[in-house]
Amino acid sequence: MATSLNVALLGATGETGSSIMKGLINSTEPRYNITALARPASVDKPALLAFKEQGVKIVAVDLDGSAIDLAAALKGMDVVISAIDAGHLLSQIPLANACKDAGVGRFVPCCFSTVTAPGVLNLQDLKDDVLDHIKHIHLPYTVIDVGWWYQSTLPRLPSGRTDYIASPSELFILGDGNTPFALTDLGDIGLYTARIVCDKRTLNKSVFAFTEIKTQNEIYATIEELSGETATRNHLSADKLAGMIADVKAQKPAQNTPDFFKLAVLQYWRTWGLRGDNQPEYATYLGYLLADELYPGLKGRPFTEYCKEVLEGKAHKVYENVTFF
Ligand SMILES: NC(=O)c1ccc[n+]([C@@H]2O[C@H](COP(=O)([O-])OP(=O)(O)OC[C@H]3O[C@@H](n4cnc5c(N)ncnc54)[C@H](OP(=O)(O)O)[C@@H]3O)[C@@H](O)[C@H]2O)c1
Repeated sequence: MATSLNVALLGATGETGSSIMKGLINSTEPRYNITALARPASVDKPALLAFKEQGVKIVAVDLDGSAIDLAAALKGMDVVISAIDAGHLLSQIPLANACKDAGVGRFVPCCFSTVTAPGVLNLQDLKDDVLDHIKHIHLPYTVIDVGWWYQSTLPRLPSGRTDYIASPSELFILGDGNTPFALTDLGDIGLYTARIVCDKRTLNKSVFAFTEIKTQNEIYATIEELSGETATRNHLSADKLAGMIADVKAQKPAQNTPDFFKLAVLQYWRTWGLRGDNQPEYATYLGYLLADELYPGLKGRPFTEYCKEVLEGKAHKVYENVTFF
């Protein structure tokens, strides 16, 4: 008989959150009774109303409001997942406290990122602060990291065919472009998450779920072969990137400001593009479980399929109307 779990998801209107929502809705073993937790001002967003039509319950929560109300909204949840945006990570502290008060079976804090060395990525330090708090209050948890999104990898082409999905900030090849890094289609984060959060083996563990490992040179070669075009290669040296990071760091950017996100992107480039942190061997060294070993056969779509979709003009553009820097 199919089991059924109560799950609440915060951030369902976001890029990561909407992928997770899709994964939860599509899951058949277990089936999830799904609640979307949303800011009061967001409960009527079309994306949430569309989920409501698929049976998702929508509940307004204010992370900065009453702790009693927040815990009441979480009562009876087996799993609470946070996909809050990177500018509000510390707002998860009251959420974690409310999970503890409500007796939630497992909290999944917002990570869904690359595997990173300590002290390299300010954003990761904030995520680690949240994880330290979770451990401090003895809250059951699972961390899920997914590698770099396919959606942030493709260069522009002379024909302009990839312009509609291209990042508003300039794309560089880091160093010689030969550092391998793990990648996942944004649309598959939910596929992995739905499987991981019901697994007893992943309780109080970190899990690394990814679909492919490639270098930037391999990525450029793939889109060039499929398109028959040649992309311009703008290389960024380790020294130049270190200087850019130091310049932004010197500004001591506050959370959720343009420079905060600029620093995050530059530090991400360093960790996966130069240091090579975002790989399964390093994840294992850090103590992660690997999803491809836990779930042989569970595989997101290949990178080439994403490239073909982009060239057909049918791919999803992430962060529509958002410019980070
Ligand atoms: N692996 C990668 O390549 C990669 C790439 C980008 C991001 N990430 C990671 O993915 C995670 C999620 O980021 P994202 O970019 O997917 O998020 P996003 O698209 O910016 O979505 C943010 C979500 O958070 C909600 N939210 C924001 N502040 C809130 C608050 N105070 N209370 C309740 N809800 C709030 C928003 O709800 P509203 O509807 O109310 O606005 C929205 O649903 C982050 O940890 C980030 O570091 C990873």
